[in-house]
Amino acid sequence: MNAPANHAATGTGSGPGTPPFEAAAGLADVAVARTRLSDVLGRQGFYHYRGYNAVDIARRARVEDAWHLMLCGELPTVEQRAAFARQTAAMRRLPDNVTALLPAIARLSEPGSLQSLRSALSLTAQAIGCKPWTDQSEDETTEQAIRLVAVMPTLAAQLFRLASGEKPVQPRADLGHCDNYLYMITGQEPDEPSRSAVERYLTLTIDHGFNNSTFAARVIASSGADLGSAVTGALGALSGPFHGGAPARVFDMLDAIGTPDNAEPWLRQAIEQGEKLMGFGHRIYKTVDPRSELLHEVARELHSERVGFAEQVEKTAVALLAELKPGRELYANVEFYAGVVLEAAHLPREQFSATFACSRVIGWLANVLEQIQGNRIFRPLARYVGPEAPRDFPDFWRPGAP
Ligand SMILES: CC(C)(COP(=O)(O)OP(=O)(O)OC[C@H]1O[C@@H](n2cnc3c(N)ncnc32)[C@H](O)[C@@H]1OP(=O)(O)O)[C@@H](O)C(=O)NCCC(=O)NCCS
Repeated sequence: MNAPANHAATGTGSGPGTPPFEAAAGLADVAVARTRLSDVLGRQGFYHYRGYNAVDIARRARVEDAWHLMLCGELPTVEQRAAFARQTAAMRRLPDNVTALLPAIARLSEPGSLQSLRSALSLTAQAIGCKPWTDQSEDETTEQAIRLVAVMPTLAAQLFRLASGEKPVQPRADLGHCDNYLYMITGQEPDEPSRSAVERYLTLTIDHGFNNSTFAARVIASSGADLGSAVTGALGALSGPFHGGAPARVFDMLDAIGTPDNAEPWLRQAIEQGEKLMGFGHRIYKTVDPRSELLHEVARELHSERVGFAEQVEKTAVALLAELKPGRELYANVEFYAGVVLEAAHLPREQFSATFACSRVIGWLANVLEQIQGNRIFRPLARYVGPEAPRDFPDFWRPGAP
């Protein structure tokens, strides 16, 4: 039996009186756990799921296969694949009390809102009985982890339709995870090129090392909190524009640029004004992001109308970033072609981030289950840089002052 994976990699000696080791801002280059789930080798432009090249997994496997790999540790056999598909498909329907509340949640925001999805996910976790994992059995925790992944596309699709003024479409157990998601959005079974494109996107984005939302999920789970709290917190983290909120913003940028001729002046001005170009840069990759490469290929395969323009913007942006931000090694990241692919596969722009969440929730929960094994609560330090303590109270706070 292997020891739990997640003990922190190093001891930095923060005993009484020892000055704390101060990690770089944003915890760059600091390992805060050990994991058997995935890794990103930034210089090589390579990442993997449990040792398998993740891009190859996306080319060859379905979402459920990668989900099985992350959850159970291995790719499924033929029998396991069928059993896992049956088990997960049976969990797609929402609890009745959540279905009843969904229209009211959808009315709070525009279609595709991650805030609505976050609220609905939180309610769903409560409705399926998520308790602090310390207070329930391991089997209950694992079952909830699978169920939360299974219901996420249902929540995302039904909220989208309700917020768009359409009737929700109930999940079908006879369709694959990806097919069923697209079916619940449009009410039609997807055509094969669209299904295959979205399937590769979903499989490609399941996990990616200790990204911001995954770390958030593990921090929350480390306190013993329920799985619903962990995934809701992770979804909040994902909603930020520096993380999962970027794909629709890439489109906004492409729209703002408008024409090929405008790419150079528009991008130059944005960089010179200190703006971050959406869909470019990565904390770990200092070369081309392999996810962006595959998505670029998929976008071309779908004959997306936008791909030619996007390619030109990418080329111009990479050249300008090299000129104006020398040495930073900034290239297109996963988000840049994600929107182009999802749009060509008939997904509405507003739904891009929610679609990302439907994939990444698999990684979050695999990480939460790993965290629980041999858990130690995350409780780092901060170096205090405020006024020297103890301070005297101001005169008007002294006893007897008027
Ligand atoms: C992904 C991201 C958050 C990584 O951030 P990070 O590792 O903290 O990198 P930093 O913000 O420290 O950037 C390092 C330098 O590169 C620059 N830079 C990074 N990404 C940039 C971008 N997209 N456009 C322009 N400049 C960028 C920064 O301005 C900084 O320059 P400086 O040294 O002159 O201050 C950042 O690249 C970003 O915000 N990208 C745009 C949003 C995006 O596409 N998000 C999806 C991520 S998958």
